[in-house]
Order: sequence, then C-alpha cells, then structure tokens
Amino acid sequence: MKNSPWWRDAVVYEIYVRSFADASGDGIGDLQGIRSRLPYLAGLGVDAIWLTPFQPSPMADGGYDVADYRGVDPLFGTLADFDALVADAHAHGLRLIVDVVPNHSSSAHPWFQAALAAPPGSPERDRYIFRDGEEPPNNWTSAFSGPAWTRLPDGQWYLHLFAPEQPDFNWRNPAVHEEFLDVLRFWLDRGVDGFRIDVAMGLYKDADLADVPPSGEGFQSRSPIWSQPEVHEVYREWRKVLDSYPGDRAAVGEVWTDTAEDLALYVRPDELHQSFNFAWLEAPWSATAFRKIIEDTLVAVTAPTWVLSNHDVVRHITRYGEGSLEPEAGLDRGRAALLAMLALPGSAYLYQGEELGLPEVQDLPPESRQDPIFERSGGELLGRDGCRVPIPWSSDAQSYGFSSGDARPWLPQPAAWADLSVESQAGDPASTLSFYRRVLALRRSLRASLPDAIAWLDSPADTLLFTRGELICAINCGDEAVPLPPHGGILISSGEPDQTSLAPDTAVWLRQA
Ligand code: NOJ
Repeated sequence: MKNSPWWRDAVVYEIYVRSFADASGDGIGDLQGIRSRLPYLAGLGVDAIWLTPFQPSPMADGGYDVADYRGVDPLFGTLADFDALVADAHAHGLRLIVDVVPNHSSSAHPWFQAALAAPPGSPERDRYIFRDGEEPPNNWTSAFSGPAWTRLPDGQWYLHLFAPEQPDFNWRNPAVHEEFLDVLRFWLDRGVDGFRIDVAMGLYKDADLADVPPSGEGFQSRSPIWSQPEVHEVYREWRKVLDSYPGDRAAVGEVWTDTAEDLALYVRPDELHQSFNFAWLEAPWSATAFRKIIEDTLVAVTAPTWVLSNHDVVRHITRYGEGSLEPEAGLDRGRAALLAMLALPGSAYLYQGEELGLPEVQDLPPESRQDPIFERSGGELLGRDGCRVPIPWSSDAQSYGFSSGDARPWLPQPAAWADLSVESQAGDPASTLSFYRRVLALRRSLRASLPDAIAWLDSPADTLLFTRGELICAINCGDEAVPLPPHGGILISSGEPDQTSLAPDTAVWLRQA
C-alpha cells in the first residue's frame, strides 16, 4: 500500500451548493440537502467533496461575495447544520473542503462598509485598494466585463477585478493577512479537511498598478494583475497553519496560468498542496493537445490534478460536442476523457452533474439568468448559469426531486432532464451514472498498486496510448477505429467493449498482457 496523503490521488466532487439539493423547499440548494445526499456521494465512489461558498452574502456573484467569513448564509442553513454536515461526511468516509475567497469581499462586508464611511487615506480604506484621480487609476477591466474601478461620490476609485460588489482586498496591509489566518483556523477548528482558494493568483497586484500591456500575451501568468511574486508568501503562511493541524489538511488553489511551469510555483513544498490544472479544461478534443498537457504537467508538477468541468465553464460534454454532427459525440468524448483523466497519476476534480452526463443549458430565459456576467455584458455574454442548473434527482417530481417542496428551482431545468435524473440512471448499467460508478470503483481498487509515472506507447495519429503499471489506457480522438495493442483483457470501456479495436470518441482501460 502506498502511504501518501489522501489528497494526492483523491477524486474530489465539487458541490455548487445552491444547485445540488434543496431540503428547505425554497428552490435553493442548502447544507441539509447536501447532508441528505451523502449516501449518494459515498456510493458514487468519490473521496472528498468541495463546497462552493455558503457564507453570508448578498449573492451578487452566487456567494463569491462574502460578507461574513465565519458564518452560514440563512439561505443555506446554520453553523450547526455545517457542523452536522462535516460529521456526517466523515462518517461516510468523505473528506470535506470549503471555499475561501481571499481576493475580495462583498461590498456589504463590515470592513468595506467601514471604508466607505471613513475618509480617503484612512486605515479603513487601506484594507482595500482605493486611489484618487479624475480618471480610473489604470486600464484594468473586470473579469465580468466593464471597468475594474468604481468611483465613490467623494472622488476616490476602488478596485474590483470582478463585480463592483466585490471590492479587492489590499494584501499589502498586514491586517488582511491576520484576518485570513484567523478565518482558516475558524474552519479548520470545525473539522474541515482543507480549502479551495478562490482566485489564488490574484491577491497581490503590481505595486504601481501599472497598465496591462495591450497584447493579451502571457496574460494569466505575467501581468500587473496576476501572479505577483509576493503572493507566494501568503501561501507559505497558510501552509504553516494547515500543517499545524492533525490529519493532512490541504489547500488547492484556483490558479489560472499560461504554463505548467508557472503553475508549479504555487505547489512548491512549502506552499499549496495542489493547484487546479485548467489546461485540459481549456483544450479542444484533440489527442495532440491532451498529450502535450499531460507531458507538460507531469514534468512540471509533482502533485498533479485534472479537471474537465466546474461551475465557471461550459460543461465539457457540450464543449466537446460543438462542431460535431454526431448528436452523442459530446457525451461519448466526455466519457472517454474521464477514463483518460482517471488513469493518470494525481487527483481529479469532478463537477456535480457530470456523472449524469448533464449538458450545458444554453436556452435559459434571459429573465432567469443571475450570473453578473450576463448583466454586465449587456446580455452579450451568456455567463455561467447554464452549468449551474439544479441537479435532477428523480424523474417525475416537481423540480425533478431537487427541492423537497413544490418550489420552483432558482434556475429552470429542461424537460429532457427527467431522463437524466439519478433515479432514471441508477438501475441502468449503460447509463453515464453507472459508468462513473464503475470507473471510480475500479480506480479505487487499483490505485494502491499504480505507480506515479506513465510510459507512452506508439499509437496511430489522433490517439493516445500509455501504460501506468498494470494498466494500459488508450483514447481515440480521431474519426476511424484503430487496433488495440496486445492486452490481458478490458477493464473498462467508455463505449461498447471491443477486444481488438477502439472506436472513435472512445477510451479503454486494458490489463497488461
Ligand atoms: C472564481 C469562482 O470560481 C467564480 O465563480 C467567481 O465568480 C470568481 N472566482 C470571483 O470570486
């Protein structure tokens, strides 16, 4: 048996709290809803769950605008509910990590309210990023469209890399450091197994707030906005806190970079345990692209992670299906990509609903959309609501079993989701849910014996073939079936099992001959 910490090869399931399960019957998911579905998650075979923010918030950005870092929003429950959820998750053998949002607070946070009430130059304003001037202090734009600066009636501007309701903290102020160290301890004391760190590469800005160069080259890794060297000191401080608790508490950063080398800086031994590796999620359906990502990652990062979807991007089966004439191509490719991802060393992050093969909902009525991106772009960008539609649990109930009562879910679910519900898929061996359960169980049974390295084998164009110990993984991203290498049996196939050839849009795990 390998003796490595749990997070190293864990499969972590992301719960977008407002869309997972609604026990209170108000149309919005909550902590008790999650609690009631823990047996489902344990049965699915994941190792851990990550909860998106549930702290008190005006919900200008679905909770990523936190007004109180030490509480639970009444929409989602109470601190007692949270404690019960942690205890139950652990009793089900599931680790639990929570989101921490250190780049910005809500504008309703007492610190920002105090800053608004205090004069320019005051200590209260110094906890955020305020500047004087007739014009905005620089050319930065918000990630949600529009300027990144908002002007107050007294003439000062404040920075918000996201919505105006999300003012950025000034991490050059020691009080901000102290506050977040205390916030981490607050949740660690309540038993969480770790944190997902929001916008982890954004906390420090260029000291002079220099303009962003006009070309987008190297935007994520090297710009006055992102990945300033000082940010690493924050994670060294945080690592010491995490290490001071028993039981392998871990942190995964939401780090967007241009290269795997830049990503690796965040997971040096005294910094974060992991960072999301968004390269695959950003890649097209292409064996060449996948191979480069796998190679670059495994060279640069010793604790790799893999992810295909999350609450910020178009669901991967929809991405993979774009441009294909085959109606099922997206789902077939999504299942194949999952097999490839789960065959690799490291840990994997799944996004709720991908195990049901849920597509992006692209035709939400405009009036139902809540993502600030939609409004701030004047409707030009649809935003992220399409991947946040509540989960269908049963086939016939109102809201497909999402809400306990007869409330309407906060985003409407497509009628076709009756057939994609957990209830519809659970007993069907050919369903995507059954496939996820099978592959997660198989991965769990093999993982102690699998080495941390892979070896590439020659394979036809548009395919990948690699071995990892006793496992062979093959994926076909091309248009033609290809022969399989000699093997000792099929362990699992993402499509119809075939002993000798691999169909297009299919992946397979084989036993070594
Ligand atoms: C990343 C989160 O995943 C996203 O949902 C949020 O809008 C931004 N950070 C801002 O907090």
